Amino acid sequence: MARLTATERHAVRFRLNGYPAEGHAEPRMQLTDFLRHELGATGTHVGCEHGICGACTVSVDGMLTRACLTLAVQVDGCDVRTVEGLAPEQGRLSILQAAFRRHHGLQCGFCTPGILMSLDRYLRTDSNPTEGQLRELLSGHLCRCTGYTPIIRAAMEAAALIASSLQKEDHAHV
Ligand code: FES
Ligand code: FES
Repeated sequence: MARLTATERHAVRFRLNGYPAEGHAEPRMQLTDFLRHELGATGTHVGCEHGICGACTVSVDGMLTRACLTLAVQVDGCDVRTVEGLAPEQGRLSILQAAFRRHHGLQCGFCTPGILMSLDRYLRTDSNPTEGQLRELLSGHLCRCTGYTPIIRAAMEAAALIASSLQKEDHAHV
């Protein structure tokens, strides 16, 4: 790997929500700033900028990651997923996003991108979570508006809908 100098901007290339993305970053540039200012992908929010609030949560090579604690140059060559990639197609919400809308799982929406990323990832591996497990997951995210209860309701409903759609797929293969 080429030696990085502190002030020089370096090319960073990766896949963003399945599409090639490219820009330039100084070695100290955070992934949040790169996504928002260099690529214009403003769905990822920036709150505390030191790993506490969870608003900046994205997925890097399948691992949930605080983008405010990640340097842009670190994701060169990686597969990065952000909240913009959750909807299955333009104009259609994912099951989880639709449940958030039904249950008013957001007010100002500042925390929402990070929470959606964490819940989406969790529900892909366990579509039968307990409320306690969801609350533990949400302990990594700060929401100042909702009191978390509507978020839990939305996540529980989304989990049930995902479980039932998986069952239908199973039966379709029997
Ligand atoms: S902005 Fe990254 S955790 Fe708060
Ligand atoms: S909806 Fe406002 S911080 Fe969560």
